[in-house]
Amino acid sequence: MKKSILITGGAGFIGSHVVRLFVTKYPEYRIINLDSLTYAGNLLNLTDIEEAENYHFSKVDIQNESALEKVFNQFQITDVIHLAAESHVDRSITDPLAFVNTNVIGTVNLLNVAKNFWPDKEKHLFYHISTDEVYGSLHDGGFFLESTPYDPQSPYSASKASSDHFVRAYANTYKLRTVISNCSNNYGPNQFPEKLIPLCIHNIKNNRPLPIYGKGENVRDWLFVIDHARAIDDIFHTGKDNETYNIGGFNEWKNIDIVRLLCEIMDKKLGRSPGTSAELITFVKDRAGHDLRYAIDASKIKTELGWEPSLTFEIGIEKTVDWYLENEAWLTGVTSGDYQKYYDKHYG
Ligand code: NAD
Ligand code: DAU
Repeated sequence: MKKSILITGGAGFIGSHVVRLFVTKYPEYRIINLDSLTYAGNLLNLTDIEEAENYHFSKVDIQNESALEKVFNQFQITDVIHLAAESHVDRSITDPLAFVNTNVIGTVNLLNVAKNFWPDKEKHLFYHISTDEVYGSLHDGGFFLESTPYDPQSPYSASKASSDHFVRAYANTYKLRTVISNCSNNYGPNQFPEKLIPLCIHNIKNNRPLPIYGKGENVRDWLFVIDHARAIDDIFHTGKDNETYNIGGFNEWKNIDIVRLLCEIMDKKLGRSPGTSAELITFVKDRAGHDLRYAIDASKIKTELGWEPSLTFEIGIEKTVDWYLENEAWLTGVTSGDYQKYYDKHYG
């Protein structure tokens, strides 16, 4: 094996697309998907590649140091791509400690194990997948650059900012080779239906209210998940040591506009008369401390690594809606207890 790459959080939304890309594109690499399978982790995301010879799954919590050490030893890990995290802002508001435990303590644990396992640190890479939310909220125009000072506003973004700082501290103190990327909002197949886009698709289909926080005027920059996975591939292979890369879709939308667009698309797909689904739009109490606008300037990754999104939003959102309509069993599985049965049968 040329490399033995530990991908944490590989059973989650973005992680599963990264695992699939690496397993299929690089048969010469061994890919170890390490995931504790929280409510957000789902091996059903990877049924198409789970038999591949270069793929392994390990059910481990990143807070468990000795279990991590065993995996590093067993698979002689050469590199880490770290995605495992608590990822949902609303949950961080109700349970911030869960975010400290996984995103901060879990990340430091993983850094420690990697640092101790790699005496020849220059041969190995620790790649941390982070978020644009570490930069805070844009109120007066402009874009997030790699040099924008950190200003996290939610318990989730504070935990991710903290883990970014630890990664940089390990690079500086222990000479660990690292790289960090900070990406904007992802959408696409396999996203847990607590996030805005899959939640709305699910609710439109089931004639349930579409909860819009505040006035729906908050802006997010949306990127198709497979384009994020492609960027991670490029950064892993050609990014410069200890650098940061911003990744974004050049694609800003107000929440209310995106929900209206989803209603229009779904009316057509479900054969409803125009305007039917939009009647489900319901303005609700705003998220506490709701960041107004995120927008990434992704020029650095474009000019230095040649990456840019491969799909327009029109195509990506259509593909996403089709995927959710065609994968009702997946949606039912992740929102009910069925998934646990799948896990017990295959890995229990
Ligand atoms: P997700 O919630 O879909 O998946 C997270 C995965 O991590 C799950 O499989 C879960 O089981 C696993 N996990 C959680 N706690 C763990 C622990 N203690 N030990 C081991 N595994 C654990 O998240 P996602 O949306 O795929 O995000 C993945 C990464 O990308 C996160 O680090 C997130 O901060 C970052 N990110 C996400 C977005 C986005 O729009 N979703 C954008 C930028 C960055
Ligand atoms: O910017 C990157 C971040 O994007 C990632 O780091 C996070 O892991 C990811 O969850 C996402 O965070 P957001 O908070 O932006 O995503 P979410 O889908 O929760 O919300 C998108 C916008 O929609 C946000 O302004 C809040 C709003 N919203 C969300 C939900 C779930 C609603 O109006 N109603 C809802 O029901």
